[in-house]
Amino acid sequence: MSRAPIVVTDHAFGGLVHEESLARETGRTLAAHQCTSEADTMTAVRDAELVFVNFAPVTADVLGALAPGATVIRYGIGYDNVDIDAARRLGVRVANVPDYGVDTVADHTVACLLTLLRRTAAFTSAVRERGWLRAGDLGPIRGFAETTVGLIGTGRIGRAVAERLRPFRFRIIAHDPYVDPADLEAAGIEAVTLDALLSRADAVSLHAPLTEQNRHLIGARSLASMRPHAVLVNTSRGGLVDEQALAGAVRAGALAGAALDVFDPEPLAADSPLRDLDNVILTPHAAFYSVSSLDALQRLAAEEGGRALRGEPLRCRVA
Ligand code: NAI
Repeated sequence: MSRAPIVVTDHAFGGLVHEESLARETGRTLAAHQCTSEADTMTAVRDAELVFVNFAPVTADVLGALAPGATVIRYGIGYDNVDIDAARRLGVRVANVPDYGVDTVADHTVACLLTLLRRTAAFTSAVRERGWLRAGDLGPIRGFAETTVGLIGTGRIGRAVAERLRPFRFRIIAHDPYVDPADLEAAGIEAVTLDALLSRADAVSLHAPLTEQNRHLIGARSLASMRPHAVLVNTSRGGLVDEQALAGAVRAGALAGAALDVFDPEPLAADSPLRDLDNVILTPHAAFYSVSSLDALQRLAAEEGGRALRGEPLRCRVA
């Protein structure tokens, strides 16, 4: 009897070396797709025992099309594109890869934050367009030692960002309802409420997962309580930010700038107002990417896939 195939629903990797080795070792076929819709994904995964997914929507119907006892492995940390409640109901195991690229995302976040605070990207556009300008023409620039950075979410990436910021002498405050404030204080981070963070921070950086409760956590109301010279960095998930409200706030001068790596939906709409704002840095969901992080992601995912096929406990099971 032929074994159920291993399916990759979508990916943007250069190749699938680790996944192909897993298929060879376990005597299975590997089918790779580029699904974007629920219908494509359902067709691609029908009767699969092991599914690797990047951004394709893994809805209840998609999960229902899998072979009994199947496992879904999300390439990455966030798994908001997988219906976790349905997976539990249907007995589909789901795992993520939480540790392949924490340093890379933290590096990218800090690179964006420093660029915004020193206005290097905005200066570049202004010099190109205007020929020359005075150092203060784009607005005041604070020294890092007089700058407060507010982290929303202090898990792996939030902490790695804090570690990188400390040598620059930033004051670091954070809001995370699921972390003991004493833990944060021990790490040199002042624990504050969300309202205090928004009103005190000169820069806000998002490191919380997207959930049903925190969609548009940064919307018109939160933006209005931020300082007009403040900047926002989002390398977490696009749905955390109301993009229309953000574009409006930046255009109105109610916020000095933003750096966004993630959008809702992705790719960023061709007519998004964010594209026209000089003080908004846009990167194409690239924060996770480095040569070594990508290889680690695929290797760790394939190793988890091996455990799933052998019926062993999963290393990073989320459902
Ligand atoms: P983690 O699970 O280690 O930490 C998340 C933290 O957020 C936890 O401490 C949790 O208590 C906190 N949290 C949950 N809800 C919150 C809320 N409403 N307000 C404040 N804090 C809240 O996750 P990790 O590894 O730090 O990753 C964070 C996010 O980064 C992921 O969920 C993912 O969406 C995103 N990510 C983005 C990548 C990119 O390429 N742009 C790559 C990897 C992850």
